[in-house]
Amino acid sequence: MDRSRRLSLLTPSGRLTLGNYLGALRPMAEQQARADCFYGISDLHALTVAHDPATLRATVAEQAAVMVAVGLDRSTVFVQSRVPAHARLAQLLECVVTTGELGRMIQFRTKGRGVASTRTSLLTYPVLMAADILLYRAEQVPVGEDQRQHVELTRDLAARFNATYGPVFTVPEMTTPPVGARVMDLADPTTKMSKSSTPGSIGILDDPDTIRRKVARAVTDSDVGPDAVRPDRDAKPGITNLLDVLAACGGSAAGITTYGALKAAVTDAVVAELEPVRRRCAELVADRTHVSDVVDRGTARACAVTEPVLAAAAAAIGL
Ligand code: ADP
Ligand code: NA
Repeated sequence: MDRSRRLSLLTPSGRLTLGNYLGALRPMAEQQARADCFYGISDLHALTVAHDPATLRATVAEQAAVMVAVGLDRSTVFVQSRVPAHARLAQLLECVVTTGELGRMIQFRTKGRGVASTRTSLLTYPVLMAADILLYRAEQVPVGEDQRQHVELTRDLAARFNATYGPVFTVPEMTTPPVGARVMDLADPTTKMSKSSTPGSIGILDDPDTIRRKVARAVTDSDVGPDAVRPDRDAKPGITNLLDVLAACGGSAAGITTYGALKAAVTDAVVAELEPVRRRCAELVADRTHVSDVVDRGTARACAVTEPVLAAAAAAIGL
């Protein structure tokens, strides 16, 4: 069996949503059968924009519990800031990247736009991300469109470091991730459902009543008639999103002809999918021993795996 290594980081930048669950956490859980997975909580990445310390700490704790609740405790779950090699390798890679290269990154220019004072960590974020990837010697990095430029930079830095100081890093290949469900905001189905808790965003830990209320208020359209319940991404984004969510949660739209019935089916399917996670998470939060054990064990393994790579890079660069 192929036990290739897989790395995936999830930034604790807000409370996790149904989108994060269907698009990231559930596929991460499925991946465990095929690969030796490292699943990181990238708390350092959450420091690149204005943040509140107490909220960050609470978000990290909740994310760890959710990751265990969806079954990721069969993998190496770690906290990025507790694996010192991440920040230390980033420091070394800052010596092979130019300020010009970082200033040209589209995400930096987009996120920094209109912000009065931009943190330097936002500029250097792609270097920390390069360290995240290179430390685990990943051979393949599945990368979505928004991160392509950063992974391209990671490849450039790895190759440049190797050419200048010796062959330390595995230069990862970029692969296209399987197209998963892309969940749109229920209140504005033209934008992605995201961690910023808008009224149209369903939290993984929302209770059934909250889910029912949010789905009931989901934007639809004024179509009536027997074929109103049909997918059409351009003309009917709200209905298309509800149909996608229903299918992703194992429900069926067969025989459904009204928006009311569709919303009832979506509510039932989402509640059935999320309720076991919410219950398990509540148990885990009541007695945090298991979550702490999982994270401590995972963090120790992440340290053990990354230390030799950092040591090789430090030696090669002359430290
Ligand atoms: P967010 O937009 O919630 O801050 P991120 O951009 O940090 O989330 O993404 C974390 C992971 O969750 C990524 O793998 C991303 O593809 C997935 N993800 C986030 N939002 C959605 C969504 N609405 N639908 C599907 N997947 C999503
Ligand atoms: Na993010």
